[in-house]
Amino acid sequence: MSHAPSPAGPSNRARPVTKSGPAADPGARPADQRAPRRTALVTGASSGIGAAVARRLAADGDWRLVLNGRDLTRLEQVAAGTSALTVAADLSWPGADRRVTETALDHLGRVDLLVAGAGVGWAGDFTGMPRARIDELVGTDLLATLHLVRGLLPHMVAAGSGRIVLLGSVAGSVGVRGEAVYSAVKAAVAAFADALRYELRGTGVGVTHVVPGVVDTAFFDRRGAPYRRTWPRPVPPERVADAVLTAVRRGTDEVYVPGWLRLPARVRGAAPGLYRRLAARFG
Ligand SMILES: NC(=O)c1ccc[n+]([C@@H]2O[C@H](COP(=O)([O-])OP(=O)(O)OC[C@H]3O[C@@H](n4cnc5c(N)ncnc54)[C@H](OP(=O)(O)O)[C@@H]3O)[C@@H](O)[C@H]2O)c1
Repeated sequence: MSHAPSPAGPSNRARPVTKSGPAADPGARPADQRAPRRTALVTGASSGIGAAVARRLAADGDWRLVLNGRDLTRLEQVAAGTSALTVAADLSWPGADRRVTETALDHLGRVDLLVAGAGVGWAGDFTGMPRARIDELVGTDLLATLHLVRGLLPHMVAAGSGRIVLLGSVAGSVGVRGEAVYSAVKAAVAAFADALRYELRGTGVGVTHVVPGVVDTAFFDRRGAPYRRTWPRPVPPERVADAVLTAVRRGTDEVYVPGWLRLPARVRGAAPGLYRRLAARFG
């Protein structure tokens, strides 16, 4: 099967059926049964934010989806009732990203949207962090993301349209105590998003950097350290998913969820010494 991309866009949207008259298109379906026009690959779709994004895209009705995660059972639960194709793969394994992108291109014909939602965390002093966990964080949160983008981007650029959505974290904007490697990989994702956006100017392909604060998902239990602070309060993953869909619709470069989290990032940028003193005092 060819992986050649075809242009994405609204031009082939089926018109709603009108009751009668010469303008009626016999091939058109009723408005609520339009064939989905757009295509997306969502990683991290078996849990949390990625699952919420997958559900929102499926509910939108205009997307054909390929969903990736490691746990096939949970992945299929997310895909249940939709036409989404599931691809279970551990993205930290060499070559897994290629299998996922090739499956997506084979199945969908083109990928208009990549939501790179797969990620893991780790909390604790850096001196106690096992080497394997360092490799896992860098491999999953950073390297796999870069390779997925590298695999899909040439097709998007050739098509003259597309959007890459990268899941960052406020930890990457300000640096969080006890999350040194996680902060580092998310800062790398942020820098990658900025640099790539400059490079892609004029190609029709956009990059959205999504920067959540604390989100109520299995992320914290899985990293082995539950979220214990009373503030900031966790937001539901659906709120991040809504922000992703809005950003995709509007072509937004960067979105913080919740929006006020942009403030600490700005304070750190404008007055790093002050920010460090405040962070050291209030954690
Ligand atoms: N939760 C937060 O507070 C928060 C805040 C800021 C940013 N984020 C970021 O948001 C993203 C999603 O996190 P989440 O909160 O939704 O966490 P989550 O509920 O734990 O979901 C993580 C997802 O990533 C997948 N994943 C992990 N390692 C993988 C690997 N090696 N190969 C393929 N898939 C892998 C998981 O697949 P399986 O479940 O199948 O293993 C799961 O679908 C991450 O990038 C995270 O860093 C989260």
